[in-house]
Amino acid sequence: MSGWRRKDLLAIEGLSRDEVELILDTAVAMREVLERPVRKVPTLRGRTVLLLFFEPSTRTRASFELACKALSADTVSVAAAASSAAKGETLLDTVRNCERMGVDGVVVRHRASGAAAFLASRLRVSVINAGDGTHEHPTQALLDCFTIRERKGRVAGLRVAIVGDIVHSRVARSDVWALTCLGARVVVCGPPSLLPPCPEALPAEVTSDLEEALTGADVVIALRLQAERQAGPFLPSVEEYARFWGITEERLAAAAPDCLVLHPGPIHRGVELDPDVADGPRSAVLEQVTNGVAVRMACLYHLLGGVAR
Ligand code: NCD
Repeated sequence: MSGWRRKDLLAIEGLSRDEVELILDTAVAMREVLERPVRKVPTLRGRTVLLLFFEPSTRTRASFELACKALSADTVSVAAAASSAAKGETLLDTVRNCERMGVDGVVVRHRASGAAAFLASRLRVSVINAGDGTHEHPTQALLDCFTIRERKGRVAGLRVAIVGDIVHSRVARSDVWALTCLGARVVVCGPPSLLPPCPEALPAEVTSDLEEALTGADVVIALRLQAERQAGPFLPSVEEYARFWGITEERLAAAAPDCLVLHPGPIHRGVELDPDVADGPRSAVLEQVTNGVAVRMACLYHLLGGVAR
């Protein structure tokens, strides 16, 4: 029906360019739905999606919920702190119980890398990874690519600099796979302590020279310092990070004049992004959020739009 063949969306690594482009092309149609006076279509009427968030989330959770509603799917939300996980139930037991109540798909965010794949291998219903530990956050990368494609008209051939806490960032990993799959040249940059220990595992240039990374960049993606995943002193101080690694207008002088600035949020203003940049004309951070709903609608449509299981 849709050209999409996978039961689950767990990672960008391993997706083909056709699969990534299929989702981005579908998201164009979904955004058109969201621009109508009545932002709702009956596509997934009668389907129920379980939103299972075991880590804090604002954008991802709200946009999955809005995406479900725009497609007329019902949602059930379970937050870790208020669930039986807090009483010692395993993740698999929690989800199997929900599956037996009749959900058709599961959107899961969890602090453990591999949690979404673990569930997907044990459930009959579709699983969408909404961020698993430091591994991947595929829908964020898809909405980043969508935003870049909308603003720049293409992704292929662009130079993209991803700056910040690369080693702990699932967004960086998914972005690198998605952007290179679409033909962009990607450089990841951060303090040496926040770069991946095996850089050759990612198809990107790796550098600790910020000026080099920003020179000629068409897109700059700043990342949040993942304090909750930094088990140890990775940085002398947040102030020092802001001083040496924060993206400011002065530093962006090295980038292409029409360079686009992205951030997945939540932003630490004045740390990863100077407020003048975050709110300036090159920033697309709020467009990313708007596009996130359309991209998640596209993912839900392809994963759940087939015959009911
Ligand atoms: C990201 C995440 O949770 O991985 N946020 C998001 O989904 N918008 C990035 C982050 O938390 O730094």
